[in-house]
Amino acid sequence: MSVHRQLLLDEVRKYHQDTVTDAGFVPGVTEIWPSGATLDESDRVALVEAALEMRIAAGVSSRKFESQFARTMKRRKAHLTNSGSSANLLAVSALTSPALGDRRLRPGDEIITVAAGFPTTVNPILQNGLVPVFVDIELATYNTTADRVASAIGPRTRGIVIAHALGNPFEVEEIAGLARDHGLFLVEDNCDAVGSTYRGRLTGTFGDLSTVSFYPAHHLTMGEGGCVLTADLGLARIVESMRDWGRDCWCEPGENNKCLKRFEYQMGTLPAGYDHKYIFSHVGYNLKTTDLQAALGLTQLARLDEFCAIRRRNWRRLRESLDGLPHLLLPEATVGSDPSWFGFAITVAPEAPFRRAELVAFLEDRKIGTRRLFAGNLTRHPAYVDRDYRVVGDLRNSDIVTEQTFWVGVYPALTEEMIDYVALSVSEFVVGHG
Ligand SMILES: Cc1ncc(COP(=O)(O)O)c(C=O)c1O
Repeated sequence: MSVHRQLLLDEVRKYHQDTVTDAGFVPGVTEIWPSGATLDESDRVALVEAALEMRIAAGVSSRKFESQFARTMKRRKAHLTNSGSSANLLAVSALTSPALGDRRLRPGDEIITVAAGFPTTVNPILQNGLVPVFVDIELATYNTTADRVASAIGPRTRGIVIAHALGNPFEVEEIAGLARDHGLFLVEDNCDAVGSTYRGRLTGTFGDLSTVSFYPAHHLTMGEGGCVLTADLGLARIVESMRDWGRDCWCEPGENNKCLKRFEYQMGTLPAGYDHKYIFSHVGYNLKTTDLQAALGLTQLARLDEFCAIRRRNWRRLRESLDGLPHLLLPEATVGSDPSWFGFAITVAPEAPFRRAELVAFLEDRKIGTRRLFAGNLTRHPAYVDRDYRVVGDLRNSDIVTEQTFWVGVYPALTEEMIDYVALSVSEFVVGHG
């Protein structure tokens, strides 16, 4: 390492230490965010190091992150993307590839999904001309069930795309079984659930493809970023092609002729020997990341176990402190799961003597940040009014979530003192309004 570089990085460490000011937690004054990035000295150094080396496109850190993350998540391949939304778009789009022959998804095919959640779990279904078939969720777990999915399978059903709600696994083993029995694709949106397990196995390892987000609210961050994971090398090749403009070539940027026959292909109606680097076998996108993002991802990844453990600890502490309070429905882990929680959801019982808005205002006034369970019932949003979709059963619980549910944070920067203040504040409000 050059002397100047070492000096600069040492200075960055010192700068980081200067920026860390711990004023201590002051109840009602210190902001308790619902989510956010948990960044330390090594994250800052990694980012600066990548910048010093001008690694402005994908490069050595991207490749390293993809292989380490695939190993951590127990999948054969991981492909970085510029967001979790892009990862979902890529995962669903990959299933339309002509390389899948008769199995490929075609416009008009139906995909079972959940009405209450994040929009970009569902949007790729519409963006690919497919038809979402919405099922309802359960309250407390905020997930749908295998029974609901089974009842939605019809003659045009070709796939299932579902997110693990706020880190809580859905009945993914049973739903993967349904997918197998009916010849359906399964995409797990694992954006909020990295580190969660169902029946002892990591979420994201049951489906054909799974996705992750690295936005600051999530378990690991790169600022912006995401990932598509799979154990299927054929699907991985399609994902990579579609991520990288749709090209057929798989050389990394800056690499040439890895296949040793760059000028020997004949594809489509192109002249024989057309440069493989510029042959396009998919109608693709460019959803790549930069090495600055991946460098940050690597230092974050080193802390994944610690992050997941604090999320679990914070959730458990809140759950135990609030247990038994009237008028609130508290969250429950899906039976057989060990969630690496994203947030702590609370539903105000419809017959409660207070409204969600009052409790949320009380908490926000105390600097306790709250969030909605994302969109709630998506079908009630203007974007979806004129879209082609089906609903199986009713969306009663999705509506309750839209009207009565919110969540508070459990992310690693929240201390036990903060969690206790959140619990105390919720209890104080509920008892005061009882
Ligand atoms: C379940 C789920 N899927 C997808 C996304 C989208 O991820 P991103 O913000 O990285 O696009 C989010 C975002 O929070 C999410 O919660």
